[in-house]
Amino acid sequence: MAYEVRGVVARGKGAPVSVETILVPDPGPGEAVVDVQACGVCHTDLHYREGGINDDFPFLLGHEAAGLVSAVGEGVTNVAVGDFVILNWRAVCGQCRACLRGKPQYCFATHNATQKMTLADGTELSPALGIGAFVEKTLVHSGQCTKVDPAAPATAAGLLGCGVMAGVGAAINTGGVGRGDSVAVFGCGGVGDAAIAGSRLAGASTIIAVDIDDRKLEWAKGMGATHTVNSGQTDPVEAIKALTGGFGVNVAIDAVGHPKVFEQAFYARDLAGTVVLVGVPNPTMTIELPLIEVFGRGGALKSSWYGDCLPSRDFPMLIDLYLQGRFPLDEFVSETIALKDVEAAFEKMHRGEVLRSVVVF
Ligand SMILES: NC(=O)c1ccc[n+]([C@@H]2O[C@H](COP(=O)([O-])OP(=O)(O)OC[C@H]3O[C@@H](n4cnc5c(N)ncnc54)[C@H](O)[C@@H]3O)[C@@H](O)[C@H]2O)c1
Ligand SMILES: [Zn+2]
Ligand SMILES: [Zn+2]
Repeated sequence: MAYEVRGVVARGKGAPVSVETILVPDPGPGEAVVDVQACGVCHTDLHYREGGINDDFPFLLGHEAAGLVSAVGEGVTNVAVGDFVILNWRAVCGQCRACLRGKPQYCFATHNATQKMTLADGTELSPALGIGAFVEKTLVHSGQCTKVDPAAPATAAGLLGCGVMAGVGAAINTGGVGRGDSVAVFGCGGVGDAAIAGSRLAGASTIIAVDIDDRKLEWAKGMGATHTVNSGQTDPVEAIKALTGGFGVNVAIDAVGHPKVFEQAFYARDLAGTVVLVGVPNPTMTIELPLIEVFGRGGALKSSWYGDCLPSRDFPMLIDLYLQGRFPLDEFVSETIALKDVEAAFEKMHRGEVLRSVVVF
């Protein structure tokens, strides 16, 4: 018997999202149903609504969530009813070519629920990032449930499910930021600020926050930025060089996903440094760079999918650090909102008024 619940759906490109009745099937083999307690509003949800990811409308949005497992299907052993879990979009398969090469963080065949959640009329929904969590109950693959310490509040814990993990991982996993490194982070939203907090955690000694919004730069200081640059007013490449003895940073992170920003990151980096692209560009964007500069500057240009994380390794670790007061998850929660307020939260995100609006149930 399917559950009948309320959830946020994007029906068409650019159209405002709406709260709809969603039918959630009982979990089948390997699946779990989770009572969502909190789900953050990520910029990627807005990318979906704008048709920037694909055209598989209607989407069930939301994917940065934590909650309690309420039912499990046949054969599920990693979680049980009542477990407090963060949902992830990297349930690794263990069998694809990436997993077999010992690099499960690149898994090319991650698990999602096999059954579909639908609208009341039976229309199948595409869940954002294979999750769909702006909904009272959601159906996922059991591997998408990562058990963490229930002492963490769901509002904070859920953010690890996407943006915060992507940012932290962009710095410490993809960028390899370590003790004494210099780092510049372009774009200080939820993802960029997490890259800043992650860089601090890893021991970076110079952390330069770059944004076009002074409010964001102020918040970035609270996350660990040692310097700030408003790139709408100052040339960020010159400013970053001036702050690093004329050389540039060891790791430059683009948490916007825009060719102009990527180019700034490219030139703001020291010789043999690393550029990490964690912001998601739209499909029309292109970039042109002098090939001699790509060669001559050395180092690496890397993309960071989900911060190269392994949820089973990284979520419990970051929750433990949070509970010890060593990672500022609460500071990412700008406001808690109701399901009906997701469209308004997109507008606030657009105006730069929030790091994360979090839907609570
Ligand atoms: N790679 C991944 O796995 C992954 C995961 C989650 C999110 N993302 C992506 O990361 C990006 C950031 O997400 P978010 O939730 O932090 O978004 P956000 O909207 O909260 O933050 C974006 C920030 O970039 C700033 N900005 C915009 N244009 C700029 C420019 N030209 N120069 C400098 N700063 C600029 C904004 O002022 C804002 O502070 C999005 O593209 C999102 O889709 C990627
Ligand atoms: Zn795999
Ligand atoms: Zn996200």
